[in-house]
Amino acid sequence: MKGFSEKIETVQEYYFSAKLREVNQMIADGKPIINLGIGSPDLAPDKKVIEALKNTADNPQAHGYQSYQGIPELRIAFADFYARAYGVNLQPDKEILPLMGSKEGIMHISMTFLNPGDEVLIPNPGYPTYTSVTNLLQAKPVFYSLDLNQKGRPDFESIERRDLSKVKLMWINYPHMPTGAQGSTEILEELVAFAKRHQIVLLHDNPYSHILTEKPQSILSINGAEEVALELNSLSKTFNMPGWRVGMLAGRADWLQKILKVKSNMDSGMFLGLQKGAIAALGLGKSWFEDLDELYQNRRKLVWKLADKLNLTYAQDAAGLFVWCKVPEGKTAEEIVDSLLYEKYIFVTPGKIFGTEGENYIRFSLCMPEFKILEAIKRI
Ligand SMILES: Cc1ncc(COP(=O)(O)O)c(C=O)c1O
Repeated sequence: MKGFSEKIETVQEYYFSAKLREVNQMIADGKPIINLGIGSPDLAPDKKVIEALKNTADNPQAHGYQSYQGIPELRIAFADFYARAYGVNLQPDKEILPLMGSKEGIMHISMTFLNPGDEVLIPNPGYPTYTSVTNLLQAKPVFYSLDLNQKGRPDFESIERRDLSKVKLMWINYPHMPTGAQGSTEILEELVAFAKRHQIVLLHDNPYSHILTEKPQSILSINGAEEVALELNSLSKTFNMPGWRVGMLAGRADWLQKILKVKSNMDSGMFLGLQKGAIAALGLGKSWFEDLDELYQNRRKLVWKLADKLNLTYAQDAAGLFVWCKVPEGKTAEEIVDSLLYEKYIFVTPGKIFGTEGENYIRFSLCMPEFKILEAIKRI
């Protein structure tokens, strides 16, 4: 054996992959852990979704390889969802590519566009996968900050002071994880103009558009975005289906065709039952979203209480599945995270895993039932 790829030296095992081993060991040792760390919705999808999966699984004809682009019905369901949720019209056969979760899309897109040495603009803090995939492809992450007093507006002024000639891609994500910054139409318009000015491909990662937002927003609703932007979306958070691994990519037909060239060499389609379940989910009506909103509003109020008890500060106008809390002067996030885990058996995420600008922050997930959050409050 002559060694491993140099590429793996550029990344670490995903934080949760490693940390959950420790947390699961604590659970196995009998510790009553409350997991406010990971953002995996704890409730089931709608009954219709499960039925569609079960009915398909019962059909002996349903178990073969599937289309690399998903069945036409699924692409149509995504197109209808985009029209209803965001007022965006997409051609189902050309401008939509179903994915096995949006996380895999980050790799497929990056493989399609990047050469070693290319640069990629990435929010700091931000979803760690943008950085690790960029590193794995031997491209260079260039971090930009967000102004949390301006709905997470990128710091365009300092970005434009840099040489942007090698920047090919820019990751954006509104509502933003982990901060919950909502973005705005104006910010998205500024981003589209910025991308055009510098010939950068804008990649909007949009899994939280329906979680605690007033109005779901898509970059593709912005004038001119169809020329410069692609959007990733996901059923994981919107429909309580993180383990199903169903996501999608929307945008320019010619770019999607190139991305399919990569992806079709990686997998052989998605199980038909998952596609049928996804179609049922995408067709759900208003009450699904209202119930989801009420659930997370109630949980969030309790997490705010928990944060108050710990003297943490947070923005109340945030969206998404998390509460992003600043630690008080004189304390470090690490101290608080460790004392919560080892003394109170409450698992929360240290902000530093999302970048240097997350160092003084802690992230609480809303994916725990109210009684568990109340129990956590009691333990403090
Ligand atoms: C910002 C962001 N993007 C993408 C994902 C990936 O979602 P999925 O692969 O489940 O669609 C997550 C998951 O937590 C996320 O927080």
